[in-house]
Amino acid sequence: MKNELAVPRPGSFDAAELKVEALALVAALDDDHEIDELVGAWEELRPWDAHLKELGRQGKDTTPMLSAIRWAEVRIGDELPHDARLSDTATSLSHPQRTQFRRLSAYRDAVKVELAKAVEKKNPKLASRRHLLKILDELNPVDATLPDVGDESGDGWEMLFGDMRERLFDLPDESVDLIFTDPPYPKKYLPLYRDLAEHAARLLKPRGFLVTYAGVIFLPEVFDHLKREELSYGWTFSLLLDEGSQSRIMGRHVIQGWKPLIVASKGQWTSGEWMNDPIRHARQKDKYGWQQDAAVAAAVIERFSRPNGVVLDPFMGSGTTGEAAVAVGRQVIGVEADDNRFSLSVKRLIG
Ligand SMILES: C[S@@+](CC[C@H](N)C(=O)[O-])C[C@H]1O[C@@H](n2cnc3c(N)ncnc32)[C@H](O)[C@@H]1O
Repeated sequence: MKNELAVPRPGSFDAAELKVEALALVAALDDDHEIDELVGAWEELRPWDAHLKELGRQGKDTTPMLSAIRWAEVRIGDELPHDARLSDTATSLSHPQRTQFRRLSAYRDAVKVELAKAVEKKNPKLASRRHLLKILDELNPVDATLPDVGDESGDGWEMLFGDMRERLFDLPDESVDLIFTDPPYPKKYLPLYRDLAEHAARLLKPRGFLVTYAGVIFLPEVFDHLKREELSYGWTFSLLLDEGSQSRIMGRHVIQGWKPLIVASKGQWTSGEWMNDPIRHARQKDKYGWQQDAAVAAAVIERFSRPNGVVLDPFMGSGTTGEAAVAVGRQVIGVEADDNRFSLSVKRLIG
């Protein structure tokens, strides 16, 4: 595919001009680009390496251009397909590069902060990939003993590797009591809520529940995607975030202190134990940046399924639902498309 990102050519040694071009490139990378286009831009940026070293030796500030290269890697990580199938362009990246780019993308906020620091302090070391990955390791260490990727199962649990849109067809109709899940929130993933609802309509037993996290900002779209004849809206719990988890929503100037948990039932809502609304939601990020609170998962699973019932999480992430479901005596099936997180989930389920 034609590379439409305007990548500055090495040869311009004017540091001020280079800075403007590099910052424009960082902004352009955030627009809607296909993976092939991003990889193309990144490959065009690679010859800069030698020139940047030379510029650095001349005492010129290279951090804006280094940040542009790093940001291209974050964006490639964003766009890499979530299953094992890759386009020809994406396979031109080595496996370690793909893993590193995914990792940079999963922790883009931390990367952004560090790159801003690099530009401000004019310190190229802070914009090096090695430095950023070291920081992410400290934030969220990857266990070198993780098992290889492939479907896995154990006592009362099963993990399916791949894209939930396809893998869920492997499960029989009306075989699940509760779907408890947490799809990715960014706008481009919103259609996954429609896939989730379609599968839920087929997989849930009559009177089964679908309980899902959602981002506040796209709630109207989420409700729209979840709408199906077979599913009735039930409730929206409010998960109260502790202070360490509150975030500033830049487009709204709101300090967010809660997040929604939406409940729908297949057919009639079955009453059970009384449950408080709101629910306290603690920060737990020792395994993964998007990890959720296992105690909340356990309480919801207990309320919305019966002992030994089947709980499904099609977006298992680091395995919070799996761990919680097993702890409260449910059978659990998980799907995860990212190899690192899949392995984390398996490890957590093995215990
Ligand atoms: C918000 S995270 C879930 C975090 C999880 N609740 C935890 O506590 O770790 C969403 C997960 O869905 C996965 N995912 C995204 N698209 C997917 C797809 N089409 N099929 C399966 N998994 C997918 C992502 O790789 C990510 O790990």
